[in-house]
Amino acid sequence: MRHFSIDTVSTWERFYRANFINCLSGFKSANLIGTVNKEGQPNLAVFSSVVHLGSDPALIGFINRPLAAAPHTIQNIEATGAYTINHIHPSFVAEAHQTSAKYPVEVNEFEAVGLKPLYIDNLIAPFVAESIIKYALQLVEIVPIKHNNTFLVIGAIKDILMEETLIGVDGFISLEKAESMVSLGLDAYFTTKLVARYGYAKPDSTIIKTD
Ligand SMILES: Cc1cc2nc3c(=O)[nH]c(=O)nc-3n(C[C@H](O)[C@H](O)[C@H](O)COP(=O)(O)O)c2cc1C
Repeated sequence: MRHFSIDTVSTWERFYRANFINCLSGFKSANLIGTVNKEGQPNLAVFSSVVHLGSDPALIGFINRPLAAAPHTIQNIEATGAYTINHIHPSFVAEAHQTSAKYPVEVNEFEAVGLKPLYIDNLIAPFVAESIIKYALQLVEIVPIKHNNTFLVIGAIKDILMEETLIGVDGFISLEKAESMVSLGLDAYFTTKLVARYGYAKPDSTIIKTD
């Protein structure tokens, strides 16, 4: 097995290194975040750093890159407090990926890539109509991460839109059935396959092997 030290990795070309390091932390959920600015101009961008922070209260975090690299989503969230997170599926993954382009602020990415905004009562942020699982959040806190000028954006889940048939008797949502995608590196997207589900593990639980 090769041993790479971070000193070696640091000498690599920027995008090669970014791909390599991004793969190490594994598959991430692939999402589109929908926002509007104060003037009502919609914005849509792909984010994979979405993380569960707790179920009660229901909190979700995501990491926003430094402002110069990714300014619009975080600025809109700061200005309005509202945003939506929309799962990505194979039927529109190419359009979703294209939202990562650095469009000028006046460009509406829904129009630029050909996705449909969906508005519900009492929410100014747009959902992605094509997305099968989507939820709306209210900003709770933006935590600056000084070490690399990124931000942890924390939101409270307010509304969830999905077909009830995706929800199991125990509340488990079949993301596999919905074909919600995961991403890896800078540009790769995958669907998933369930290997096993287990009961709540206790010290005396029996380990059941899969084939
Ligand atoms: C697969 C993928 C995942 C991404 N995940 C993130 C992320 O978690 N955080 C982030 O700040 N940018 C992420 N980006 C980059 C943003 O999509 C990109 O910077 C976008 O232009 C930001 O748009 P905005 O300025 O409208 O917010 C990702 C890009 C790709 C292709």
